[in-house]
Parts: sequence; C-alpha cells; structure tokens
Amino acid sequence: MKVLTIGGGGRECAAVEAFCRAGSEVYAVMKNGNPGIIRMAKDFMFSDEGDIGRIVEYAKTKNVDLAFVGPEAPLEKGIVDALENAGIPCASPNKAAARIETSKSFMRDLVHRYNVDGNLGYASFDSPDGIEDYLKTLNYEIVVKPVGLTGGKGVKVEGEHLHSLKDIMEYVHEIFDQNIGKAGVIIEEKAVGEEFTQMVFCDGKTIAPMPIVQDHKRAYEGDVGPNTGGMGSYSDADHLLPFINKKDREGSLKILRQIVKAMSDDGCPYRGVMYGQFMLTRDGPKIIEINARFGDPEAMNVLPILEDNFEKICWDMAKGTLSENVRFANKATVCKYVVPKGYGTVPEPGHEIRVNEERIKESGARMYYANVDIKNNKVVTGTSRSIGMVGISDSLKNAEWNCETALEFVMSDGITVRHDIGTLALIQRRVDHMKEIRGDD
Ligand code: AMP
Ligand code: GLY
Repeated sequence: MKVLTIGGGGRECAAVEAFCRAGSEVYAVMKNGNPGIIRMAKDFMFSDEGDIGRIVEYAKTKNVDLAFVGPEAPLEKGIVDALENAGIPCASPNKAAARIETSKSFMRDLVHRYNVDGNLGYASFDSPDGIEDYLKTLNYEIVVKPVGLTGGKGVKVEGEHLHSLKDIMEYVHEIFDQNIGKAGVIIEEKAVGEEFTQMVFCDGKTIAPMPIVQDHKRAYEGDVGPNTGGMGSYSDADHLLPFINKKDREGSLKILRQIVKAMSDDGCPYRGVMYGQFMLTRDGPKIIEINARFGDPEAMNVLPILEDNFEKICWDMAKGTLSENVRFANKATVCKYVVPKGYGTVPEPGHEIRVNEERIKESGARMYYANVDIKNNKVVTGTSRSIGMVGISDSLKNAEWNCETALEFVMSDGITVRHDIGTLALIQRRVDHMKEIRGDD
C-alpha cells in the first residue's frame, strides 16, 4: 500500500520504520531533513507540515492509499478533513475530533458532560477577569494552562513553578498579554502522584491498548528544570510499570473507552492513535491531558516491539474495522533523547553529530533521527530533539544498559542526554513515591 506520512521527528521516524516493516511504500512530508525517513521512504517532500493544499496535491499525485499524521499542528489545521475530501483514508483524527487535544476546555467539558471518570476540578476563562476571585474559592493547589496548543511547554504548576497568588496572576496576565495558546486560560486542580502514558489505537468505537510508558518532561537529570516535549521514556516487559498495577491500567482504559464513546455520541467520532496522559493518584488515574496522536518519545517505545502489521492497524483505524487486540512483544524499552545543548531554554542548532550506525545496529538498540538537518552531507542539530536512542531487552535494567551502550556511538560536542532516564535508581524513586501516595507501608 502507498502510505503518506506527515512529520519529520523521532516519532515519525519510528512510524515510517513500522510501515516499511509492514511492507508499505512510504511517501513522507516533513519540514526538516530526517536522514532516517529519507532513507526508508520511497519518496519525500520538504514542506511546512501545515501547508494543506500542497500536501493534498502531493498525496494525489503520488496516488497514496492511506495517510498517517504524526504531529498535532496539521490536525488542528484540518489536514485530515482535506485528505478525506480528496478521497484518501486517514489513520488520524479530523479537525473536530482532534479538539480533544487542541482545546483543553473542549476536553474538560466533554469529560464533564459525559461523566467520564478521572476528571479534575477546572474552569476556563477567556480573559483575566474573575480568575483571582475563582482562585480564592478553591481549597486545592492548581495548574495554569493556556487552552490551546503550546507544544507541552505552557503549563505551570503551583508548588513547582508558581508559589503564590501573585505568581499565578502574573502568569495568567502573561498568557493573555502574549497571546500564548491564543484561546484563553484554564485553571485546573493539581493532581498529585505519578504520571504515565496509556496510548491506544482507535477506530471510532473500538480501542486496542499499547504498553504503558512513562515520559520525562523536565530538561535536567533528577527531574528538575524547564518542561520540554519529553527527554526520554521507558516501558516494561509486562506492559505495565513497576508502580502501576492491572487495576490502575484498567481504570485508564475505561476512561479512554468512555471518551471514545462520548465523542461518537457527540457527533465527532475519534479515529487514530489516542494518547492518554494520566496522573496515578491515591484515588486512581486522573486525566492530565488527551492527545490526538502518538506521544513523542513514547512512539519509539511501542512501535519497535509491535508484532502486528502497522499498515493493517492504520487501515483498520481509518475504516472502522479495528480488532481490540494488538500484539506487542514482552520486552522492556528505554528511550533517551539526544538533544542540542540548551534544549529547554535556548537550544544551540547547527552542531555536527557523527553517528556510527553499524555499531548501534550491532548493539541491538534502535536509533531514530528526529529534528536534525543535513548540511554539506553532515547531520547537524536543529532547535529541537535530535536523536532518539531506544534500548530493548527482557528487563528494564538490560534495556537501559543497551541504550547507554548505543549512545556511545553518537558523537558531538553540541548535544546532551538525560542519562538518569530508565535507571533503576530513578524508577525506585517513582515506586517509593507511589507507595507514599497510596499510603502503603
Ligand atoms: P501538559 O502539557 O498538559 O502535558 O502538561 C505538562 C506537564 O504539567 C504534565 O506532564 C504534568 O507534569 C503537569 N501537569 C499538567 N496538568 C496537571 C495537573 N492537573 N496536575 C498536576 N500536574 C499537571
Ligand atoms: N511526550 C509528550 C507528548 O508527546 O506530548
């Protein structure tokens, strides 16, 4: 089958690999020169990923049978609606369904209206008026979020980034003055616990779960520093995490099923990968956000261990014929993102990265190029994450080791990595934290 893919990051590199493994002929659209995608694709086009007219034209010229959209920005612009109008089935949500990610107030209102489990206290505002009075009525800590898309970086949490009513109001004014996220502000109850990602495939009514993953948003080791798009992630061989049991997982899947049903009942059925970000609290999983796509880096944890045919899964999502069982190998994975120095604050693009791909392959790890470019035949850093390195093994310990072994074959003086991701010491901290939250001895 001829498949159009949109996006040039690590997530899309892993998706293109999964399509190629399934026998697809890939036609890739991306804005940067991702050497991995370029090598695997039958053909590619450099383009702004939101240039809908140009992308639809390309898809028609190439006669593609199916389209897959990696990032959220083109979904918000209605790329799926345009491709479907041109007769091309899509394994991604249309503009109305993508609101589950693109409008945090749409998500919270839907979850509220349909009595979905795991909601948090919230109120949305389209001006700073009334926010201070509202805050004074609350007896819990809060989180401030711009309503629209901000690339995961616009959220500020009381007790972490905001320490007083004054801090909160200053940030609220900053969001409105600078028009961050464009559509207003949401004040949300702060959930306390451990975060995890539960992604599912979805065809409008049926969901098929993927292994649970934990991402690391903070830029620096020890979980400090600014929030980023995600510095790395891990998943365990039993598809749970050491601090998440089957009941917690069932709770999160129930929430996703309820959301899928609510969207269908509300007239905007959801097709594509749905990404549930949850906080596991002492009262079970709470919804932090729902995304309309694979997580990045989380896609790199699950796609390499997918045992079923990715092209068929995507076709089934597009056509409403998905089976609720999709198989993944019982392997642990640890993904660490190589990022340009300064990523999280002021990234330094343009540094050469040298990679010994042969040795990485020998190690058994998988490497996915991300936001890099090719200049004078050299791979150079961009302003976002550069290379995702994924260790795969029977246990987390060995997967982490595998990832670190492979990272030694990536050389540059313009990069950094959070080496603590996936280490047993950091995972034990999560386990201890969750025990404390649940009140276990
Ligand atoms: P988001 O962009 O919604 O994923 O938020 C970025 C990060 O902010 C999340 O990964 C959480 O660590 C934190 N966060 C967002 N919403 C909440 C919440 N309601 N309670 C606690 N932490 C949150
Ligand atoms: N890893 C976080 C995200 O993709 O939104």
